[in-house]
Amino acid sequence: MEAVQLGKSSRELKKSANNSFVPIPLAQVSGTDKAAYSSGLAALDRILGLGLMPGAAILVGGEPGIGKSTLFLQVAAKVAALGKTALYASGEESLGQIMSRAERLGILHPNLHGLATSRLEDILAVLESANSPDLLILDSVQTIVSQEAEGLPGNVSQVRAVSSALIEACRRSETTLVLIGHVTKDGSLAGPRMLEHMVDTVLALEGDRRQVFRLLRVFKNRFGPNEELLVFRMGQRGMEIVEDPATFFLDTRDTSLSGTAVVMAVDGQRPLAVEVQALVTRTFLNFPRRAALGFDANRLHLLLAVLEKRLKLSFAQVDIYAKVGGGIRIQDPALDLALVAAVLSSYYDRPLPEKSIFWGEVDLNGQIRPVSAQNQRYAQATRLGFSPIIQPERELALGNAGFVSGVAELPKKLFR
Ligand code: TYD
Ligand code: MG
Repeated sequence: MEAVQLGKSSRELKKSANNSFVPIPLAQVSGTDKAAYSSGLAALDRILGLGLMPGAAILVGGEPGIGKSTLFLQVAAKVAALGKTALYASGEESLGQIMSRAERLGILHPNLHGLATSRLEDILAVLESANSPDLLILDSVQTIVSQEAEGLPGNVSQVRAVSSALIEACRRSETTLVLIGHVTKDGSLAGPRMLEHMVDTVLALEGDRRQVFRLLRVFKNRFGPNEELLVFRMGQRGMEIVEDPATFFLDTRDTSLSGTAVVMAVDGQRPLAVEVQALVTRTFLNFPRRAALGFDANRLHLLLAVLEKRLKLSFAQVDIYAKVGGGIRIQDPALDLALVAAVLSSYYDRPLPEKSIFWGEVDLNGQIRPVSAQNQRYAQATRLGFSPIIQPERELALGNAGFVSGVAELPKKLFR
């Protein structure tokens, strides 16, 4: 007995105490919070709560080509560079391909290991060995097969068997597990949402592949805040974090043009200033065109109807196009007021006040309603130097300059 224990490192001794099969006084167990370690990306640590947790499982979903492999190969390398051991196991690429990618990204490190296999048993063998890694990236869960389960890789029973075996093995070896999963067009993880219940944290990498930015969202988190969001830029050297994404979606806009407005939108917990554009042009069609990009088109129809009724405008002879800048999608109802401002600006062909910013929900009567997180929006807008801040909360408006209660007040306020 003693000889065996002498041969064990202190880390392994700690492991056996934490994974004992007999009841044990909790006071003698070392808690996991203290053991959390950095992913090498402070922002990622923050949205995860404490960083990477030994023995915990993180599921990362996203469409093919969005950057999952790139981002988590980078994370593995950063963890390795911080003195932990990281294993990037892939059933999708050969070791040579993984190595080439790491080399191109300039992130090779002696503690960064690779394993190219599609057999679950190969990965379990590493986890059960004396040199189990601190971090295991599995790319992807749909390409690994368990001999114990039926059918082809990626089917429900395979994904379930592979995931539960790895989650269990990683808990024992105190390895942080990152399961990468492809998501189908309809948004569900191909082979099953059930995975979301098996893991501690669910992340989703989103974006439009033709655009440079990517959003990493937290959907479920046992160790930290929910609904958090990180913005990355996909570049030559992989995924680069956008430290202050507050104005990232404004691009380089020309404020002297009509038809452009800025909304202070809240996505997750974060207020982001995003450009909204509208184009109102004479139509040559029997049925004028309406098109919306980056938000629900029904909202555009609804707001146009409100404007026609409340401002006595006629849109019968015009086509109207509206889009949100940067390729981001906005669901925040606060978009309404900025959209209305952009439409009016294009309709009258008058630019909006240069540094103006908007938020507020427009109801069917043309009244402007308060929205969530108005104090955060206000603080962010002031920090970024926006003025006037046009919004529906009387208390926030200094001298009421930016306060607006209905769409009928807008033309006078905006185009003096
Ligand atoms: P990838 O990480 O392979 O996506 P996923 O694992 O989610 O399928 O990323 C694929 C795309 O990213 C690919 O089209 C090339 C691009 N890319 C860059 O733009 N810069 C880079 O440094 C790397 C490695 C990839
Ligand atoms: Mg990939």
